[in-house]
Amino acid sequence: MEVTLTPAQWRQLRLKPMATAPRLAFVNRKGGSGKTTSAVQLGAVFAAWGLRVRLTDGDAQMASASYWLPPQAERGYPTLLDVFMGERSLAEVTAPTSVDGLSIVPSLDTLARVESERPPGSDGLLAAEYAADAEAWDLEVLDAAPALGLVTVSMLAASTDVCVMVKTSTLDLVGAAEMAKPLELIKRRLNPDLQITAVLMVDDDRTSTLSRDMVERLTADYPDALVYQIPHSVRAREAPGVHEPVLSYAPDNPVSLAYWRLGAALVPRLGFQWVVSPEEIAR
Ligand SMILES: Nc1ncnc2c1ncn2[C@@H]1O[C@H](COP(=O)(O)OP(=O)(O)O)[C@@H](O)[C@H]1O
Ligand SMILES: [Mg+2]
Repeated sequence: MEVTLTPAQWRQLRLKPMATAPRLAFVNRKGGSGKTTSAVQLGAVFAAWGLRVRLTDGDAQMASASYWLPPQAERGYPTLLDVFMGERSLAEVTAPTSVDGLSIVPSLDTLARVESERPPGSDGLLAAEYAADAEAWDLEVLDAAPALGLVTVSMLAASTDVCVMVKTSTLDLVGAAEMAKPLELIKRRLNPDLQITAVLMVDDDRTSTLSRDMVERLTADYPDALVYQIPHSVRAREAPGVHEPVLSYAPDNPVSLAYWRLGAALVPRLGFQWVVSPEEIAR
């Protein structure tokens, strides 16, 4: 049975950190599938539950996680590009955000240089960087670019868990299917332990035939994954502009409640244990 909590109650939950931090990547080969929105909300959810969360922005485009939650750092701050170019470590480019417990590895449009200059050894770079800085974090959240470039491959090679993103429209079912093969190759060649932990249907109306058909198809295609629907709300579109998670910008919005519930559903799948559980708070 699912518990129903208020936004303030969701914030009272607490998690126990694990010996090694899970690394959860959000992927889809297309833009506009809710990767950044989901990475920012889940980052904020797990930070609220007491974990030290780091969000890595792997997208060179506008409307990125770095625009949404800008690093609290001096102008001219270093970025993920400097890590790929061998100038800085991941720890050196990590900066706090306005959200307590949530830090960011920022990117700018200059990140595109990784794809044009192809620095050697990029595939294994992020795995090594996360390992070198492992003690400082309880959860790594990776927001990928809408393409399977070097940065995305490096992210997938470094991840323990993947959320495949889909937007409820016929075309996006194709997008989700398109991820299956590359993920299989990443698993086989670079990262045998990678798990497809969830398939997130963002901007979903739940009631249409299309939505129901998609749940059925995705459940069949990804039998081990949690297939989960996030409803539509214009508040999700507005939140980046105020540089706040939807969770705090519109706490009572169905989208915010959906991300709290999704976070709770991911807890056992990521291997976390509650110190203060939803059931305890609901009592
Ligand atoms: N639940 C939602 N309801 C309505 N719009 C949404 C929702 N989630 C995301 N969006 C909007 O959809 C667009 C794409 O989302 P985004 O998270 O930036 O995707 P991606 O990172 O995959 O490109 C953005 O304009 C975003 O505000
Ligand atoms: Mg994005």
